[in-house]
Amino acid sequence: MRREGLYVLLLAIGGLALTLTSVAGLDNGLARTPPMGWMPFERFRCVTDCVKFPRDCISERLFMRTADLLVSEGYAAAGYKYLIIDDCWMEKERNAITAELMADRERFPSGMNHLSAYIHNKSLKFGLYHDIGKRTCMHLGPGAHGHYSIDAKTFANWSVDYVKLDGCYVNGIDLNTAYPAFGQALNKTGRPMVYSCSWPYYQNHPNFELIKKHCNLWRFADDIRDSTESIAKIIFNYFKRQDNLTKHAAPGSWNDPDMLVLGNYHLSYDASRLQLAMWAVLAAPLIMSNDLQSVRPEIRALLQNRDIIEVDQDPLGIPGHCVLMSGNIQVWLRPVMPTNNIGARSFAVVFANIGDYHECPLCPQTFRIILQNLGLKNQMGYTAYDLFDRKRKVGLFKPKDQFTIRINPSGVEFYKFKPEDIY
Ligand SMILES: *[C@@H]1O[C@H](CO)[C@@H](O)[C@H](O)[C@H]1NC(C)=O
Ligand SMILES: *[C@@H]1O[C@H](CO)[C@@H](O)[C@H](O)[C@H]1NC(C)=O
Ligand SMILES: *[C@@H]1O[C@H](CO)[C@@H](O)[C@H](O)[C@H]1NC(C)=O
Ligand SMILES: *[C@@H]1O[C@H](CO)[C@@H](O)[C@H](O)[C@H]1NC(C)=O
Repeated sequence: MRREGLYVLLLAIGGLALTLTSVAGLDNGLARTPPMGWMPFERFRCVTDCVKFPRDCISERLFMRTADLLVSEGYAAAGYKYLIIDDCWMEKERNAITAELMADRERFPSGMNHLSAYIHNKSLKFGLYHDIGKRTCMHLGPGAHGHYSIDAKTFANWSVDYVKLDGCYVNGIDLNTAYPAFGQALNKTGRPMVYSCSWPYYQNHPNFELIKKHCNLWRFADDIRDSTESIAKIIFNYFKRQDNLTKHAAPGSWNDPDMLVLGNYHLSYDASRLQLAMWAVLAAPLIMSNDLQSVRPEIRALLQNRDIIEVDQDPLGIPGHCVLMSGNIQVWLRPVMPTNNIGARSFAVVFANIGDYHECPLCPQTFRIILQNLGLKNQMGYTAYDLFDRKRKVGLFKPKDQFTIRINPSGVEFYKFKPEDIY
């Protein structure tokens, strides 16, 4: 087990060195930390019948209600600022005369400028979905193909702050030129807009060096579902490609493993902790998809855990690596602030229990590790804090000390190790 751990650790250090030499990301001054907000798709899909389903349909009412709740329930103050409309907001066709996109007139009767002003008036930011191809993914509206400039101008006119650009219906379209061209059109409007690209998800061999030059964040895995299996699958997808993915993330450029599904139907409390801690250690965007009116108080408290959000939003912007995998236990480590008096970094460390523990499937499991085997080598040691327990101080640990924890099934423990000063 130790050899395996050290082997993976060497890969991690290799990845870190590459971070320093790879090219700079998109230079629009935005998304210096991973974007946080809300998007309807996983929860509300593409419900368009507002007569039968007035609460659930994709309509201005849903977004105004959610804007109110982001503020009144404390999410906005915790950092969740981007309210992003996903697919299914458009009229079926463009304006026949001007070729402009139009919001569905029945479901957005007040128009996008009104909704945008409503959102901005709450000090929130306004995001909007579009597609680089011929139709949007749900096929309800026109894609951007052939209309990049006019669509970018429409978005700027609506005071959009964030564009999610999907990649459906792209037969005959070269994504490696189309995504940069749409980004250029956004840039030409002069309005800063976060640019979220689904580009690598639609390619077998994505060129991340190119993608990061043009996008603030990018989807690399399947659409998330409201299940522990789906979360585990995305984590495993990241794990397999972690050296390719990790080295491209930095302030302004983020890997996007898709939305947070906490607060819906199928995650246990432990699996809710698992998703939140993993997304924070990966420096992932924290974009919730849930019904804010019915999120239970204990899940709301998780989503608003300031200590975990602080890890996600750490200013160094270095994403975590899996440094050790032993049976069903994975250890993920992310360098974060603060540093000690000689510049040694703190580490946020996730201990995840994913999969079946052979001695007792679905039991909590005891895990022991010598800290230096994770790369924690500060000779004066580290003070460990439990990030799920209001930074409760767990103790002082030297590199040769053993750290012992119990981890629930489909669950995590999440600690911050802060280096002591050297005298
Ligand atoms: C913003 O909201 C306040 C009430 O919260 C209202 O008085 C004001 O008119 C609104 N402004 C705009 C521009 O919508
Ligand atoms: C959007 O277009 C309308 C109509 O042309 C114009 O009155 C308005 O000022 C524009 N808004 C922005 C933010 O560009
Ligand atoms: C457009 O691109 C230039 C060059 O990368 C950058 O300096 C500028 O901030 C961008 N403007 C917007 C509005 O994105
Ligand atoms: C990592 O990227 C390289 C270069 O693009 C590619 O050859 C390799 O297959 C990728 N590895 C994984 C696991 O995706």
